[in-house]
Amino acid sequence: MSGAADGAILITGGSGFLGAITAAKALAATDAAIVLPVRAPHTRDSVLAPIAAELAAEGVVTDLARVVVLPLPSPERIVELAPELQRLGVRDVLHCAGCLSYFNLGKLQEGNLDLTAGLLALSRALEVRRFVFLSTAYSAGFTDQAIPEELHQVHGDDPTDYTRTKRDAEWLVARSGVPWVIVRPSIVIGDSRDGRYGGKPYGIYQLWTAGERYLGAGYPPVLHVVAGDQPVNFIHQDAFANGFWAAYRQLEDGAVMHLVSRDDALPTMRDLWELWLSTHGGPSEVHFFKRLDDVPDEDVAPQVRMWLDFTAINNEIASVRWKFARARLDALRAGELAFTDASLDTVRVAQARFVADSPKLQAFVARYREQGSRTPRFIVHDGPLLAAPEAQP
Ligand SMILES: NC(=O)c1ccc[n+]([C@@H]2O[C@H](COP(=O)([O-])OP(=O)(O)OC[C@H]3O[C@@H](n4cnc5c(N)ncnc54)[C@H](OP(=O)(O)O)[C@@H]3O)[C@@H](O)[C@H]2O)c1
Repeated sequence: MSGAADGAILITGGSGFLGAITAAKALAATDAAIVLPVRAPHTRDSVLAPIAAELAAEGVVTDLARVVVLPLPSPERIVELAPELQRLGVRDVLHCAGCLSYFNLGKLQEGNLDLTAGLLALSRALEVRRFVFLSTAYSAGFTDQAIPEELHQVHGDDPTDYTRTKRDAEWLVARSGVPWVIVRPSIVIGDSRDGRYGGKPYGIYQLWTAGERYLGAGYPPVLHVVAGDQPVNFIHQDAFANGFWAAYRQLEDGAVMHLVSRDDALPTMRDLWELWLSTHGGPSEVHFFKRLDDVPDEDVAPQVRMWLDFTAINNEIASVRWKFARARLDALRAGELAFTDASLDTVRVAQARFVADSPKLQAFVARYREQGSRTPRFIVHDGPLLAAPEAQP
């Protein structure tokens, strides 16, 4: 697709992390009008501020007057936007909005399914040239099989209804009759160059911030951590922006692409915890377990147990070896796509920036080190500590 005939580009999720990153990329890469439908209580100013900050960080100077911010109607009324969007010349839809509330079924249904259905009805009415759906690499559910860049005909158990609703939304898109591309990123972390992160505390940020929230009540000297030796698939937000954009511009209709880092570059959870704990100190002793079920109940301080329970789903996801097919991304990378794989060195940059940007985390780290140790001792447990009970005859 040529950059000359952009028309206007509609991007959903402009008030969120990846929608804003995508809007900034669209502003940097085209002269098109960028249309951002958003819910109340967002305003034009509140939506533009992070986009402008992202453009400034990238050194891009552009006219934000070509951004059109519109109120987003409820899903069943989204189609009513069609006349106005026709007038604005919308030809492509980049659907980056979605709901990550793992345990709120109503919000997942609305944010991942009803919203997508409403946008597909709108896209049919507009006869759009392309609809790009931002899904997730984990829409396959748990599986130890290779995960193809195709719609999931079979799937594993879902960690939560989040992955199920994203998978069902992929099928809504595929059956809509609208020309589509599906992009499935893994876990997005800060920029590979300076670590800046515009997202909510998801993924590894959840573990870091939840530590402050739960462990700051007691600074336990002994920590039990779920940290396996599988690579954990992160991608940096700059790699996301470039990869998502390349998929939109270059893939064929009906393509599914995993937007993931290469396994051989990635750190394991154990590497990540060693990075955090050897940088910041805190506990005097840290026990690593591969799975939450392996952690012995009786030895764990109550606040450590609450922290483990709060982060259980993400730990469970990280303890699985996900085998994502990567042929489409590799083909784009063989061309002009700039994509930095996440590695221990680049995560170090993101970690340092996150702590530097958070006075609360800095205070937590300093207090923990004062009360504990600068250099914790690491103890690795490769399986359950207790012998399994003898099988009964
Ligand atoms: N972040 C990641 O690491 C990651 C990785 C893989 C895939 N993804 C996918 O990327 C998408 C966006 O993630 P994100 O990190 O940008 O999340 P985010 O920062 O929470 O942003 C979510 C966006 O979706 C909008 N939204 C949610 N529910 C909505 C609803 N019912 N109606 C209208 N708008 C709704 C939000 O609007 P409000 O501001 O009004 O709430 C916001 O603009 C999600 O679908 C997620 O599945 C994210």
